This record gives sequence, C-alpha cells and structure tokens, in this order.
Amino acid sequence: ELKKLVGYKSVDDHVESGMVVGLGTGSTAYFAVERVGQKLASGELKNVICIPTSERTREQAESLKIPLCTLNEKSELDVAIDGADEVDPALALVKGGGGALLREKMVEVMAKKFVVIVDESKLCKGLGPGFPLPVEITPFCHMHTLRTIAKLPALAGCEAILRMGSSSNNKIDGDNIAVTDNGNYIVDLHFKSPIKDPVAAASQLKNCVGVVDHGLFVDMAYQVIVAGSDGIRVAGT
Ligand code: A5P
Repeated sequence: ELKKLVGYKSVDDHVESGMVVGLGTGSTAYFAVERVGQKLASGELKNVICIPTSERTREQAESLKIPLCTLNEKSELDVAIDGADEVDPALALVKGGGGALLREKMVEVMAKKFVVIVDESKLCKGLGPGFPLPVEITPFCHMHTLRTIAKLPALAGCEAILRMGSSSNNKIDGDNIAVTDNGNYIVDLHFKSPIKDPVAAASQLKNCVGVVDHGLFVDMAYQVIVAGSDGIRVAGT
C-alpha cells in the first residue's frame, strides 16, 4: 500500500500531458507505471511518451498500451520516476537491487526532474551497510574485475560478491550467474560501515576498466517522495 501511495502520487504530481517520462524498475516504480497507464486510458493524460528502464518495465508498459520510445529518439526527458534501495540525507541513492542500474542511470540522468519514490525503510544515515551496492561489470574476466573493485581505496573494507541466480529483472547464464538486460554481470558490494565518500567511490568505480556502471546515484534526485506510517512526505526541491 505504501508503494502504491508514492507511485500514484509521483505521477499525479509530476506527469502532465505532452511529457516524455522515464519509467523506473522495481516493485515501487511498478505503481507509477500502473498510474500512467490508468491516466492515459482514461484520457486524463494525452500525448505522453515513455522510456522504460528495463525489459520488465517495458513489458508492463506495453501491457498497459503506454506509448514507448528510447533515448535514441528522445534524449531529454521531462521527468523520470523510480524507486531506490537506499536514500541518504543528501538524497544520494543506492540503486540496482533489481539489476536495472545501467538503463536506470542512462535514462534518469537525462531527466529534467528525477523523482524517487520509497517507503521509509529505505532512508538511511549513510549508504552501504543497509543494502549491498550493485556494480555492473563485463562478463569478460569478471573475477579479475571483481577483485580490482574490492581493492579500490574509497571502497575499503567491502566484500565483493558476484550475483547469482535469476530474479524478476535478471536472467541467468549457464553457470547460474545473474545476467542483466545488457548481457553483463553484477557484483554486489557488502559494507559493514557507511561509505565515507560516495562521490570518490563513484568516481573510482567509474574509472575501473571492466566496470560498466554502478548503483551510486549521487546528485541526481530532484525530489524523494517517502511513504511512512505517518503519511507521505517530500524531501528535496
Ligand atoms: C532496480 O534495479 C532498482 O534500482 C530498483 O529501483 C530498486 O531496487 C528499488 O526497488 P523496489 O522498489 O522494488 O524496492
């Protein structure tokens, strides 16, 4: 119910006719997609075109007859709406629990407004210990990349674990390794204490050969809509 509340509110507050809208991935974003579909079907919204951030979301949007395009056709979005795994007081995020982090970041970084929807369990004082940080890597020599990541100074003390098994957003390869929509692997970084400098961590990960992208979304959120036992509150602009 909390996820539905924030999902619906994000669309009611931020999506207008004529907009290009990024659709996130996960159990919270699911409700934002549902709401866009409802409002298009009822005629309350018109001429909205959406860019999905995963194959899973694309399937949901298609089932709701939401018009879709890609960043190839429209590279500027009016708004993107997505969930998150962790949100810190500066509105920096960990994302990618569902394995869709690369497409999410590619789409959401191009949005004039990136609206994040979470329940209050996702709020944290510091990113890291509450949820493993996902990193998307190339399958080529993946164990070498995993070891390299684990030695990065800004990530000191993390335990790097290759993601195994399938989920709603990932398939598996012949060795039961989780494979993203982009054909890559994911390493989950487990921390015992908060990441001291998320900006440095993001930069060191991005500079690591073999890393495609990572789940630190720093300085991207325009607003975070939080649902809790006391109702809904909004953090950010
Ligand atoms: C998908 O890869 C993720 O970034 C999700 O947005 C994130 O894991 C939040 O998902 P839930 O809304 O299902 O918790």
